[in-house]
Amino acid sequence: MSTDHPDSQFRARDFAGRTVMVTGAARGQGRSHAVEFARRGADIVATDVCADIDTIPYPLATAYDLAQTRVLVEREGARCLAVTADVRDGERMREVVADAVHLFSGIDVCIANAGVVSFAPVVELTDHQWSTMLDVDLTGVFHTLRAVAPVVTARGWGRLITIASMGGRAGTPNLGHYAAAKWGAIGLTKTLALELAGTGVTANVVCTGTVSTAMVHNPAMYSLFAPDMEAPTREQVRGRYARLNPLGTPWTDPADITAAVVNLASPAARHVTGETLEIGAGVSARMP
Ligand SMILES: NC(=O)c1ccc[n+]([C@@H]2O[C@H](COP(=O)([O-])OP(=O)(O)OC[C@H]3O[C@@H](n4cnc5c(N)ncnc54)[C@H](O)[C@@H]3O)[C@@H](O)[C@H]2O)c1
Repeated sequence: MSTDHPDSQFRARDFAGRTVMVTGAARGQGRSHAVEFARRGADIVATDVCADIDTIPYPLATAYDLAQTRVLVEREGARCLAVTADVRDGERMREVVADAVHLFSGIDVCIANAGVVSFAPVVELTDHQWSTMLDVDLTGVFHTLRAVAPVVTARGWGRLITIASMGGRAGTPNLGHYAAAKWGAIGLTKTLALELAGTGVTANVVCTGTVSTAMVHNPAMYSLFAPDMEAPTREQVRGRYARLNPLGTPWTDPADITAAVVNLASPAARHVTGETLEIGAGVSARMP
């Protein structure tokens, strides 16, 4: 967000007194969201699995990464509850929410951001690859929102935001399980929007295109985009990523996604619920 805006002083602390929970907050988009809301005055609940998952072909975040997020949040003057929690564990998510309510007296905004990707054509997907993807990217969102929804509803104000993907808006070769999970997360969030309508709580989805994080900057992903090259580098795949969207952007910055999330979380978005906001560098324009 621009700091040269005339009302930046006001906007800079516009989430003061609020508590924002972010899953998958140890790095990437989740960290960007956590730090920006801290900058805007909110206390932060930052969770992450902090461990690798066997079917995922790149390393996930570490406890050190989560500790770094905490440092960055606290540097903004915010309080931070940073805890290891796997979104696949529904009871653990309820515990984290209970701890957050105990510490901060409630939660106002929840960003169900934790996610993973792997790839294979549908006929080659193993049961394990399929179930892991559905467990993290769909059931994980369910566990998170199910635990938080009663807390925000009780307060009469809240913002539930699911991070899905442009890969959940259309079929994509090699991403059948990812598309199914993200598509499901959209349906789940839209349903919650209807069930919570009139309570002061909104539920929306942000569908991102390619974002510059460890999820896309790893050898497995580079090889998917450049199967003809041996050990392709970031610079070698840049052009191939760029061809995926009309703007020719290889990857957006996590801050671009954070800006949209902040907007959906703001009081100004009180009539925005059940929406999917697509940040796909023009890909939406090609969709029916
Ligand atoms: N990067 C992209 O191009 C892209 C594109 C579309 C959608 N997305 C979505 O954006 C979200 C954020 O991803 P990112 O780009 O920041 O990637 P990332 O890999 O940097 O961050 C994802 C975070 O989620 C955590 N995580 C993974 N499994 C977890 C689990 N079971 N429980 C708790 N935490 C878990 C990881 O440790 C990591 O810190 C994901 O939902 C992803 O699917 C990303």
